[in-house]
Amino acid sequence: MRSRAALISLLCYLLVCQQRTAAHSLPIVVNTWPFTNATRNAWERLQAGGSSLDAVQEGCTCELEQCDFTVGYGGSPDELGKTTLDALIMDGSTMRAGAVANLQKVKKAISTARLVLEHTTHTLLSGQQADAFAAEMGEELSDLSTPGSTTQHQTWLNASCQPNFRRGVVPDPTTACGPYHLDQADPRGDTLCQASTIDEHNHDTISMVVVDETGKVAAGSSSNGATHKVPGRVGDAAVPGGGAYASPDGGCASTGDGDTHLRFQPCLLVVEAMRGGASPLDAAQSVVKRMAHWFPQYVGALVAVNARGQHAAAAFGWQFQYAVRAAQQADVKIIDVEPLTLAQQES
Ligand SMILES: *[C@@H]1O[C@H](CO)[C@@H](O)[C@H](O)[C@H]1NC(C)=O
Ligand SMILES: *[C@@H]1O[C@H](CO)[C@@H](O)[C@H](O)[C@H]1NC(C)=O
Repeated sequence: MRSRAALISLLCYLLVCQQRTAAHSLPIVVNTWPFTNATRNAWERLQAGGSSLDAVQEGCTCELEQCDFTVGYGGSPDELGKTTLDALIMDGSTMRAGAVANLQKVKKAISTARLVLEHTTHTLLSGQQADAFAAEMGEELSDLSTPGSTTQHQTWLNASCQPNFRRGVVPDPTTACGPYHLDQADPRGDTLCQASTIDEHNHDTISMVVVDETGKVAAGSSSNGATHKVPGRVGDAAVPGGGAYASPDGGCASTGDGDTHLRFQPCLLVVEAMRGGASPLDAAQSVVKRMAHWFPQYVGALVAVNARGQHAAAAFGWQFQYAVRAAQQADVKIIDVEPLTLAQQES
């Protein structure tokens, strides 16, 4: 009996290992959420001879069709009703990156990030000057609001500006709209943080990793940020290591609570873990657990892809899905990821 049990556990071990190493073949396109148009567009760009960087740019340009109405212009209005965009693109074969934060008049955020990468020696441009740079480089300027985002803002105003990201201010941000001022009775904003305002209908980010058939990795991210954010707030989609990261060892794409992501640089941690020999699954899970340990309200997900095309994801606080197109597949595949639970967290 004992040897039979040992045999069974050996078989289980082999099966798990196989699962962890299965489904790798280059080239590969992987992105957060079932944004399958994005996956297909990136794949077609690769097939047409594009680089992994070209494919990431092409895929994330679903921002023009709002990637299912959750990314790009006309979404996630801030407290004043304005939509602003953050994006980054990174070439893991050269370690160069370009990014934009708080774009206010350019729909093609990831294309503007690529212009920063290729036509400046900077990494990140922000605000109205980033709009001006895009215009100089030939991008079209337009209003990023739509009737939909205006209604979303109006609904929020009607609901006494709830949910709300402020704390320790007067009037009480859990019941009233601003303008807000420092609450002298709570000078450090110690009032309890609200439960997360990020959920599956507020995951306004596409992040993508592409590995071409020679193993060159690129990654990118595009987002309109957190809905009802404080004006000026920049999310992780503008920051290499936050929304995405790429190196010769692999790439990572994230979605979720971008404010937490900015504190941990989870995509940098994931790629470094793979560089140190971790599997994509172990890398993604360990970094998600680390964030959830510090912030149990954390909601988010990380997708890890190594330079051989092995991929895995980890999620916390929500059911997550990601899309994959790889050489041996007939079409895009959607992969479901169960959230890790508190019991699975390490201390
Ligand atoms: C996907 O692409 C098709 C064809 O270009 C388009 O008609 C459709 O609206 C797109 N879907 C989404 C969700 O953007
Ligand atoms: C907001 O409230 C006003 C006044 O009650 C109402 O006319 C309007 O339809 C509401 N808008 C939305 C989007 O709920």
